[in-house]
Amino acid sequence: MKFILNDELIDDNTLPSDFTALRYLREKRGLTGTKEGCASGDCGACTLLVGALEDGELTYSTLNSCITPMQSLTGKHVVSVEYLSKTGELHPAQQAMVASHGSQCGFCTPGFVLSLAGLYENKQGCEQPIDREAVCDAISGNLCRCTGYRPIIDAGMSMVKGSMARKEIMKESDEPPYVELMSKNDSIKTQLESLQTERHDSSNYLQPTDLEQLAYALKLNPAAVLIAGGTDLMLENTQRYRDFETLIDVSRVAELKHLHTGEASLTIGASVTYSELENFSKTLYPQINALLSRIASRQIRNRGTIGGNVANASPIADLPPLLLAFDADIQLLKNDGSTRAVNIADFYQGYKQTQLAKDEMIASFDVSLDKLAQFHRFYKVSKRMEDDISSVMLAVRFDVDNGILSDVRLAFGGMAATPIRGLKAEAALTDKLINDEQALNQAIEALRSELTPMSDMRASAKYRLDMACNLIRKAWLELNGSDVVTFSGHAVSDSILSAGLEGCTHA
Ligand SMILES: Cc1cc2nc3c(=O)[nH]c(=O)nc-3n(C[C@H](O)[C@H](O)[C@H](O)COP(=O)(O)OP(=O)(O)OC[C@H]3O[C@@H](n4cnc5c(N)ncnc54)[C@H](O)[C@@H]3O)c2cc1C
Ligand code: FES
Ligand code: FES
Repeated sequence: MKFILNDELIDDNTLPSDFTALRYLREKRGLTGTKEGCASGDCGACTLLVGALEDGELTYSTLNSCITPMQSLTGKHVVSVEYLSKTGELHPAQQAMVASHGSQCGFCTPGFVLSLAGLYENKQGCEQPIDREAVCDAISGNLCRCTGYRPIIDAGMSMVKGSMARKEIMKESDEPPYVELMSKNDSIKTQLESLQTERHDSSNYLQPTDLEQLAYALKLNPAAVLIAGGTDLMLENTQRYRDFETLIDVSRVAELKHLHTGEASLTIGASVTYSELENFSKTLYPQINALLSRIASRQIRNRGTIGGNVANASPIADLPPLLLAFDADIQLLKNDGSTRAVNIADFYQGYKQTQLAKDEMIASFDVSLDKLAQFHRFYKVSKRMEDDISSVMLAVRFDVDNGILSDVRLAFGGMAATPIRGLKAEAALTDKLINDEQALNQAIEALRSELTPMSDMRASAKYRLDMACNLIRKAWLELNGSDVVTFSGHAVSDSILSAGLEGCTHA
């Protein structure tokens, strides 16, 4: 495998398939600026920046190196914290952290700095001041246990080229020196271009780029395990010590990356990441976009895929209820190239059991445009706004015809061993007037009788059931035009702060 680590071209074919980028940096390269906190993608101490060429442009995104196989970064520019000040001058993100007193013990600091440096890159050097929400989004996967978040958020907001924060440190000069954007580094770009033309497969980590190569890889390695972003799978390695002999990485298979609107449906490829779907849905599907911003952290959303979420079959995953509310079809692909479609309602067969045969994988999801045009909402209830798994998740869709509810979907996560619909509650609302409150109350009673959630560390059964009932009421109120407050996205938006609500709830 070949990749660029900071400013060095690396060629290393000695790694086990599941050897993480974090271990590689610390154990093989002595780059100990990158820290290990949790080894499960939760704390962000291991954050790295990774550059890739997209349509000729070099773009950078963050990831959790503790759950990223090193070999998945073949052909990329891997940036660790050591690179940021290699010229002897602190990066604007580092300068801003110093000026805002954003670090105490310092354990979390390299991760925060790289998340902020990624934001600096994405904002093209922060010519304009950046808002609090953008900073909170960038650091949504970083935890700090001693400094507190205010100084760190201040640092992010002061990363403006030539800002006071920078001048304070660079006292000897009025104009702090310009730090070149990594994305404008022609030498890195040229090296990445030359790496792009090479195949990167090693004997234990295969990275097909089209379906033909994927079929060949599967044929030669029938016992290999599929990996996309690895944000579920790699936890089996880091938390349960399961070794993977051979991994087939589906994240670069072009056909699985499709994301397009056809005549009747929206097709989402299995290897589309949350961040990609977030960008796509921003203006087209704001409700979907709002839910995506509540999933995990920026680092996880940059890697985690829709296919991985559905295939992993966790009853608390966030995408299956959404797909269930839209009656989505899943396209399954067999090793011999044949395909079949399964409706999401039939896909899950029990706890962590799906219809996927051993020689099948998920290729894509089809969501009807007609259904996407109907009233829909998604409510995720979790203890923290960011980087937290749902206690309860409700995805609703209502079709309204002449003031009558005709097609009702109430799909839940966290309420059973699989994602599940409240069928009796749906029936209680169907063919009723949109504002029939008695029907709503009957639906809520029906839900109480048909769902028996369990208690666990996230929530008690009673809390889950009460919450599910309240969420149906909330959806019904919104359907009827009431403005019900929903904290979607980041709890610490400027508007919330100026309204006088306290606190940053993301850690
Ligand atoms: C800190 C953290 C926070 C998280 N927060 C959330 C959250 O808020 N909500 C949520 O829903 N999830 C969350 N997750 C779980 C995870 O990020 C998602 O489920 C993610 O979508 C998994 O996608 P992936 O590409 O990383 O899958 P991987 O880990 O690569 O794969 C997961 C499973 O799916 C299989 N697989 C992958 N692609 C395919 C395919 N195309 N066909 C068949 N099988 C396939 C793999 O073999 C593996 O068994 C979180 C995870 C972490 C670590
Ligand atoms: S070490 Fe905590 S997210 Fe990687
Ligand atoms: S500075 Fe100590 S954990 Fe953040």
